Amino acid sequence: MKVILLGAPASGKGTQTKLLLSKLNVPHVSTGNILRENIANGTELGLKAKEYMDQGLLVPDELILGIAEERLSRDDCKAGFVLDGFPRTIHQAKALDEILEKFGVHLDAVVDIEVAESFLYNRITGRRACPLCGETYHITDLMPKVDGKCDKCGADLITRADDTREVFGKRLEEYKNLTAPLIDFYKEKGLLKTVVSNNIVEDVHNEILKVLGI
Ligand code: AP5
Repeated sequence: MKVILLGAPASGKGTQTKLLLSKLNVPHVSTGNILRENIANGTELGLKAKEYMDQGLLVPDELILGIAEERLSRDDCKAGFVLDGFPRTIHQAKALDEILEKFGVHLDAVVDIEVAESFLYNRITGRRACPLCGETYHITDLMPKVDGKCDKCGADLITRADDTREVFGKRLEEYKNLTAPLIDFYKEKGLLKTVVSNNIVEDVHNEILKVLGI
C-alpha cells in the first residue's frame, strides 16, 4: 500500500505511521526524520535545512525533492510506503506524481489527520523524542516507562529544537498557507480520507485502519 499521512504539525502523523507499520510491511518515509539525521551528522544538506527548521519554515523544495526521490527509489519502497511529512506543498505533490509515474506506481490513499488547534500546543510542548531511535513520547499522554528514558533503546529523551511555542506558531502558519491546500488537491483526485485525531491514539489508529479498509 502506498499512503500519505497529511496533517498539521503535531497532529500525530509520526505516531500513527508507526502504528500503521505494525499492520503494513512497508517503510516509514519521513522527510523530517531524514533532515534531522542530516543535521545530527553535520552534512551540508543538514546545515542548510537547519536554518529553515529552526525558524519553523519549510525547507525549500529544491532541497527536499532530491532526498524524497532518492528514498522512494530504494528497493524497500517497491512494495509500498507510508509518507509522513511529504509532500508539503502543491509543487512537492506534483513532483511526487512525476516521481511515482517514473517508477510506474500510484498512490492508494491520502489520510488527512484533522486535529482541533487547541490540542496541538499541548501535544507539541509535551512531546519528548529519542535522539537515537526517533521514538516519540508525550509527558502526560504517552509516557515512557522510565521518566526521561526511551523505552526502546534507553537513551535520554530530548525536546526537539523546533518544539517551542514561538517556532510552533510559525510551523502552524506554514502548514495553513502551504500544506493545507493539499487537502483539496487530493480530494479532487479522489484519494482523500479524513480522520479526526482529537481522540486517544488507539481510536485514531482504528479509524485510519477503517478508512484504509485494512
Ligand atoms: P516534521 O518532522 O515532518 O514535523 P511536523 O510535520 O511538524 O510534524 P511533527 O513531527 O511535529 O508531528 P507529528 O504530526 O508527526 O506528530 P507526532 O506523532 O510526533 O518536520 C519538521 C520540519 O522539517 C518542518 O517544520 C520543516 O522545516 C522541515 N520539513 C520536513 N519535511 C519537509 C518537507 N516535505 N518540505 C519542506 N520542509 C520539510 O505527535 C506529536 C505529539 O502528540 C507526541 O508527543 C505524541 O505522543 C502526541 N500525540 C499524538 N497523537 C496523539 C493523540 N491522539 N492523543 C494525545 N497525544 C497524541
